[in-house]
Amino acid sequence: MGILDQFNLTGQCAIITGAGTGLGREMALSLADSGCDIVGVGRRSGPIEEVGEIIKAKGRRYLGVTGCDVTVSANVNDMVAQAAAKMGRITVLINNAGLGGSGRGKTLPELTDEDWLSGIDSNLNAAFYCTRAIVPHMLEQGGGRIISVTSGWGFRAGRNNWMYPVAKGGVIQLTKAIAMTYARDNIRASCIAPGLFPKTEDAAVLTEMGPKQVAGRIGFPREMGPLAVFLASPASDYLSGATVLMDGGAIAAGLLPAGVVPHAEG
Ligand SMILES: NC(=O)c1ccc[n+]([C@@H]2O[C@H](COP(=O)([O-])OP(=O)(O)OC[C@H]3O[C@@H](n4cnc5c(N)ncnc54)[C@H](OP(=O)(O)O)[C@@H]3O)[C@@H](O)[C@H]2O)c1
Repeated sequence: MGILDQFNLTGQCAIITGAGTGLGREMALSLADSGCDIVGVGRRSGPIEEVGEIIKAKGRRYLGVTGCDVTVSANVNDMVAQAAAKMGRITVLINNAGLGGSGRGKTLPELTDEDWLSGIDSNLNAAFYCTRAIVPHMLEQGGGRIISVTSGWGFRAGRNNWMYPVAKGGVIQLTKAIAMTYARDNIRASCIAPGLFPKTEDAAVLTEMGPKQVAGRIGFPREMGPLAVFLASPASDYLSGATVLMDGGAIAAGLLPAGVVPHAEG
């Protein structure tokens, strides 16, 4: 087998949550370019259908599962059952969907139960629900790859920034728990910790932040794709429990994405 053959995902199928936009979309397109069939998951149908058209045009099989809120475990269980029934063997799960949640910037006493749960649900519980739903299938199929998207905030704290860092830190720990527990079942778990990547609609604003970054620029969403392919592929067969930083050196510098010292900003 040549070195590039190890990155070939032909015959594999990946469930990607939040596949319709941003980093999830780029990872879905890159996996499809490497031969992988895709199950794209999200709540809105527009983005999930749009990315599906591109993936099908690449000659891959595609299932879009819309109206699926990954913070609701029953939705997740239905989605995984549907994916397995329609696509057959699922070999990769990418826990990508995640949001800031409500209550950002509130002081601790101001935070409501709803604020707390909205951040923890979308950034941590969703990854747990998807992992719990897919593991029995992967065990039955002889293994799989579970990739979860954390954040630089999984490593650091910010003043009055509660749910997101706590949940993203939990995703790193969830990854280690999966890696440890299923190490002998050929289930590999890894985490990606992005730095600052622009959303399509606010690219112009974030581009202004480029010079403040350690690398002198923000990340481009398309740069996430090759890493996802590597982590999904046989090329990373002995990699498990690890979190890979994709942040242009931001965490190495110990600074916030905006380039200011941690105590000065939430
Ligand atoms: N962009 C960055 O700078 C950055 C940095 C660090 C970490 N991250 C992490 O990277 C991941 C992707 O972020 P992004 O920037 O690409 O965000 P994005 O463009 O807002 O994408 C999030 C996607 O997740 C889906 N989603 C959100 N909540 C969901 C739910 N409850 N159920 C089902 N789908 C849901 C959304 O689709 P629907 O709304 O249609 O459901 C959307 O397609 C997130 O985990 C984020 O925390 C991003």
